[in-house]
Amino acid sequence: MEPAGETILVADDDVFIQEALMDRLQSLGYHVLQAMDGIQAVEMIERHDPHMAFLDIEMPGMKGIDVLREIRRREKDLPVIMITAYGTIDLAVKAMKDGACDFISKPFKGSHVSLIVQKALEQQRLRREVQILAEEVDKRYHLVPGASRKFESLLGAAKKVAASNSTVLLLGESGTGKELFARAIHNWSERKDRPFVAINCVGLSKELLESELFGYERGAFTGAQQRKRGKLELAQSGTVFLDEIGDISQEIQTKLLRFLQEREFERVGGTEVIRVDVRIIAATNRDLEKAVQTGQVRADLYYRLNVVPIALPPLRERKEDIPVLVRYFIQRFGQESKKNFTDVSGAALEKLLANDWPGNVRELANVVERAVVLGQPPTIHVDDLPETVVSVKTDSRTPDGMPYYEMIDDFRRQVITAALTRTQGNQAAAAKILGLQRTYLSRLVKSLGVR
Ligand SMILES: Nc1ncnc2c1ncn2[C@@H]1O[C@H](COP(=O)(O)OP(=O)(O)OP(=O)(O)O)[C@@H](O)[C@H]1O
Ligand SMILES: [Mg+2]
Repeated sequence: MEPAGETILVADDDVFIQEALMDRLQSLGYHVLQAMDGIQAVEMIERHDPHMAFLDIEMPGMKGIDVLREIRRREKDLPVIMITAYGTIDLAVKAMKDGACDFISKPFKGSHVSLIVQKALEQQRLRREVQILAEEVDKRYHLVPGASRKFESLLGAAKKVAASNSTVLLLGESGTGKELFARAIHNWSERKDRPFVAINCVGLSKELLESELFGYERGAFTGAQQRKRGKLELAQSGTVFLDEIGDISQEIQTKLLRFLQEREFERVGGTEVIRVDVRIIAATNRDLEKAVQTGQVRADLYYRLNVVPIALPPLRERKEDIPVLVRYFIQRFGQESKKNFTDVSGAALEKLLANDWPGNVRELANVVERAVVLGQPPTIHVDDLPETVVSVKTDSRTPDGMPYYEMIDDFRRQVITAALTRTQGNQAAAAKILGLQRTYLSRLVKSLGVR
């Protein structure tokens, strides 16, 4: 790989080593900073923020290993290579434990230097990429707590079940957040540092789903040139998420049932019994009881899955959550598209509240994303919403006979009460949660008569 002109600090009190390293690194296209002792090295790292450092283990004043510790104490993650001389190898080993990524021994070959540098910088790049990816995944799977009682109690249930090893069955219409809950339960559990493996059981042929789940042995069928481990195996010690569980064939149901009962299975075409320790979370948007009655789903499988059912209500049954979700999506999509949206107009929010959202939270998220892309910051207006959303009447009486504005006020009251309950009555903190000005919140509290 071509060097991108990274800056490398070389700290050594031996002038010959300094010059030799500098020549080599400069000829490779890197910028070189020089320090003659440990204290100077720390100063230069602080001031110039180099991309990596060579530190001599034995230097007057502050030793290389102390410089390394100081660097880590300041939470700098630059790669550090220790320079060792004859007789200091065990110091180098100690340094590796303290977070040095490699060492070179004096005298060294020039080719060795370039290899070590490339390796260290490449590892650093990979580490950064992984970190960025992990942050993105976190953002994508961020579960926003709702304002409604219903949602609060669901979160409570999910947190409780996360601490156990029980099988969880998530029920709910499409877009209600089943996958999000599955991930949240995994992340709240002791298995959080182990894999979370999702398997979509719909849309794959019977054979494909079977080998996805259980893996296969070499020669199990034409094209099986090598053994392949299934997802149940890959999830060892972690969580397996069986999505759309209502749609699988009888044959796989039988195999899955055995797995749920015994936690063991064989790979396709294999005889070896594989045992794995995984937590199962299943999800479906179908009425499983009905599927059992019609014979599509085996009753015993259903009972094995239905240990701790959690039913996620459709969005239309917890409309109090809409404002909170809308604010969250405005912020998230605003950031993603680098448009500084902060708010939604009252009229637009009324439209959003008046809709029934057959596609649930996913549909709401899509509508907000569209508005952010099309709209003009900082506020989303009715004009930015799709015709289907706008065409819903907001000034008529609602089905349960409550005038529309009364209902809105009722929602507002509930949202504010929930926030105040959570902050134990602290209005400043509640305002922060809701993304409102404190003064505005206290006006609302008075005008709505929130206690
Ligand atoms: N409480 C929430 N906070 C933030 N985002 C949410 C929430 N609930 C749902 N979403 C978002 O809505 C979308 C749908 O969620 P998810 O994929 O978990 O639904 P699902 O129930 O698995 O749907 P399907 O049955 O169609 O697979 C996702 O983009 C998710 O991020
Ligand atoms: Mg899903």
